[in-house]
Amino acid sequence: MWRACLRAVFGRNLLVVVLELVVTGLEPDFAYPLENVTIPQGRDATFTCVVKNLGGYRVSPSSSVSGDHSGSAKARPQSSHHHQPSLYMTFIFIYQLAVPIEVAWIKADTKAILAIHEHVITNNARLSVTHSDYNTWTLNIRAARREDRGIYMCQVNTDPMKSQSAFLEVVIPPDIISEETSNDMMVPEGGSAKLVCKARGYPKPDIVWKREDGTEIISRASLTGGKTKIPTAGGETLTLSKVTRGEMGAYLCIASNGVPPSVSKRMMLHVHFHPMVQVPNQLVGAPIGTNVTLVCHVEASPKAINYWTRESDEMIISNSKYAMSEIKTSVYSVQMRLVIMNLQKHDLGGYKCISKNSIGDAEGNIRLYDMELPKHSKKTGDRRSEDDAGDLIVDRDHRLNHVHQGPLRETGSTLEPAFDEDDNSTSTTSKQNASLVIIAIILVALHHLLAST
Ligand SMILES: *[C@@H]1O[C@H](CO)[C@@H](O)[C@H](O)[C@H]1NC(C)=O
Ligand SMILES: *[C@@H]1O[C@H](CO)[C@@H](O)[C@H](O)[C@H]1NC(C)=O
Ligand SMILES: *[C@@H]1O[C@H](CO)[C@@H](O)[C@H](O)[C@H]1NC(C)=O
Ligand SMILES: *[C@@H]1O[C@H](CO)[C@@H](O)[C@H](O)[C@H]1NC(C)=O
Repeated sequence: MWRACLRAVFGRNLLVVVLELVVTGLEPDFAYPLENVTIPQGRDATFTCVVKNLGGYRVSPSSSVSGDHSGSAKARPQSSHHHQPSLYMTFIFIYQLAVPIEVAWIKADTKAILAIHEHVITNNARLSVTHSDYNTWTLNIRAARREDRGIYMCQVNTDPMKSQSAFLEVVIPPDIISEETSNDMMVPEGGSAKLVCKARGYPKPDIVWKREDGTEIISRASLTGGKTKIPTAGGETLTLSKVTRGEMGAYLCIASNGVPPSVSKRMMLHVHFHPMVQVPNQLVGAPIGTNVTLVCHVEASPKAINYWTRESDEMIISNSKYAMSEIKTSVYSVQMRLVIMNLQKHDLGGYKCISKNSIGDAEGNIRLYDMELPKHSKKTGDRRSEDDAGDLIVDRDHRLNHVHQGPLRETGSTLEPAFDEDDNSTSTTSKQNASLVIIAIILVALHHLLAST
């Protein structure tokens, strides 16, 4: 009936005559307030309108709701005006007494009628209404779009009519606009770098910068030049000035707006500088026949070619005599190691570690000398045997350590004492063995004494 009536008056500008049923007892009313809905774009949204006190109405003079069924922005203002019903109309209304109360959905901001009962009026295929449990009307908006946001109204055809509204917010997770976002960047040391990161989404995403390795970002005030270390920086632009090599590495810009998932972009900041070579031990002493390791620390960016030469600039190549390796110690630094196997007299002398990159080169020098095992000075006196025992231990420890590479300098630094504190086990066993040797010597001496008498 309702629909027939609706179809009868379906025109370009729809004028829907709505039957107004007025309660004889309790008036129909909303059971619950309509709840605001926030959903990510593309998901389904629903509004549920529950009406209580349905039934037991009598016919009242009709009122009308006029509206634009097309759902376009141009809409007529909603109006409600009363007619004096003719006898004929009254007859119809009485005839329709059994028609239950119905619910219309209206988009309040555009004043477009979306649906009446389960009948969708607006030509939006993503909308549907389901009527369930006699008193519940649910408006479904499938695959919500940004333009669906706004105020939705559930209206009941009572007299006067009742309505309630709620807001649909359609949010969009952040997305980084790659065309407007920086890529990997190179700057000379001391220069400045401007990293840009832009993201779309709704609400507008916030941008946070941090370093991938978790170290702090050095922020310098452009005017005062004062610098502060901050774990994270905010804003679309991260400006780094007077960049140092320590600021080289991966930077992440993270865009978030409360709608998961957050997104991030990683960009590498390359800081270019002249290679730098640092030699921890410029003088290395080692006994002939041992393996000796020479070490240089190199800092360079872009990545350098590192190699070793003899004093004569003759390049050293890996073979059974030499083993070379590089250990990466940071984004821009490596430790160069050269192992000279089975040290011989002709291996002594100067060595160079050289680092070359597109900006320049640098070298470090190491002098390798023969560190002869100390001669065991033999003291004269009664306790000679005991001293001998002590020397044995010194000798043994030398063999254990092979190469003494510590902070040896030409200014005649000496060997560590034989009884190293960090070598308890060795020295204690040596001591025990030493006492055994002493006891053995005493026993032999005693035997000789007894034999001679
Ligand atoms: C629903 O959203 C509107 C508009 O954002 C707001 O004014 C209102 O307080 C919200 N209502 C509830 C119940 O959250
Ligand atoms: C020197 O190093 C080589 C290869 O690693 C090894 O075979 C050899 O035993 C080492 N020599 C000494 C005296 O440690
Ligand atoms: C050496 O021994 C002493 C005493 O026995 C002990 O306090 C010390 O921790 C030991 N050192 C090492 C390196 O084992
Ligand atoms: C020293 O004595 C220990 C046992 O106390 C023994 O295992 C070791 O071989 C001995 N070392 C020497 C050099 O005599």
